[in-house]
Amino acid sequence: MNLSRIKNEFTARYETDPRVFRAPGRINLIGEHTDYNEGFVLPAAIDFATYVAGATRDDRLIRVSSLNLDHELAFDLDDESIQADTWAKYVQGVALILERKGFRLRGADLLIDSDVPFGAGLSSSAALEISTAFALASLSGHKVDGMEMAKIGQAAEHEFAGVRSGIMDQFVSVHGQTGHALLLDCRSFEWSPVSVSHANFIICNTKAKHNLAESEYNKRRAECEDAADFFGRTSLRDVTFDEFEARSAEMPEIPRMRARHVITENSRVLEAVKSLRSGDLTSLGSLMNESHESLRSDFEVSCRELDLMAELARQQKGVLGARMMGGGFGGCTINLLDDGDHRQFVEKMTENYHRATGIVPDIYECEISGGVCEVMSVND
Ligand code: GLA
Repeated sequence: MNLSRIKNEFTARYETDPRVFRAPGRINLIGEHTDYNEGFVLPAAIDFATYVAGATRDDRLIRVSSLNLDHELAFDLDDESIQADTWAKYVQGVALILERKGFRLRGADLLIDSDVPFGAGLSSSAALEISTAFALASLSGHKVDGMEMAKIGQAAEHEFAGVRSGIMDQFVSVHGQTGHALLLDCRSFEWSPVSVSHANFIICNTKAKHNLAESEYNKRRAECEDAADFFGRTSLRDVTFDEFEARSAEMPEIPRMRARHVITENSRVLEAVKSLRSGDLTSLGSLMNESHESLRSDFEVSCRELDLMAELARQQKGVLGARMMGGGFGGCTINLLDDGDHRQFVEKMTENYHRATGIVPDIYECEISGGVCEVMSVND
């Protein structure tokens, strides 16, 4: 990302120098649809990020525009009515929630630029929420605790985008660490970094987007709550595999399938951490393959394009594992490769996926990056 572009454009539009903030998108090594079940996840922040240039104003107006998306928005911090039905709703959402939590904000002019592919399952919305929340708080002189910041982003997602998402995306956009995935316990919010510098992850974007994603996401969450109810528990986190097996025959089919995914996926995350820590990437790859199968057959959030992309990857030399990533119904797969030359993987995947679907996929070799920060102060 070229920082002088956003800085110069801001200065030209608003005739003052901005401060610039950055929050990353993410990949998730394993642990899908476990966060809202108070389970475990293993995401990592990536070098695709959203940048916000901003400067304060003397009133309570927020004006926001973007270098790569349409729409401009201006809203008064004293007026709670939602004016944005576009990406800008995330900005107004985090501003209103920060204020509600007692962080009084100053008016500001904001300019946004992002290289997180939009709607590809790399958490472009969390990157937007966290970069603007951090920018607005910092410009007003507030230091917000990292986990509280993540929860503010998540609340904006729930209230203003209508998706009852878990905490994973916002958490890792705040706390990401260069060269590390983060093991997060989504009940206690305890977390620890796990080095991934010995692993090569390549992301394949199917470019498929199925409209189902949001409604099915909320539906899955409700189905998991029903499954937890069946066991008399507040969340599936508390149900052991033995307990599940003992009673699964009495369960209706849908909650049974959803529960089996969540319970087995939680153990796969913990196993994956052991594999990474002991350098056993072959086992990590097998766990990723199992995760895909569980998401496909028990959780039913995959789709034809994701299954195909994962299958094509497993046919390639040097691939240790491949699975769909994120909420599902389109977006990306994550692929674990050995240390060889990855050019052939990129060429073959592009060619084979194109031949089968007519779509040229995007393939990214991501760097694992740090979390939200200020990248340029006024004096830089
Ligand atoms: C989306 C949500 C996350 C998480 C994943 C699935 O990315 O935002 O909270 O639930 O789906 O693991």
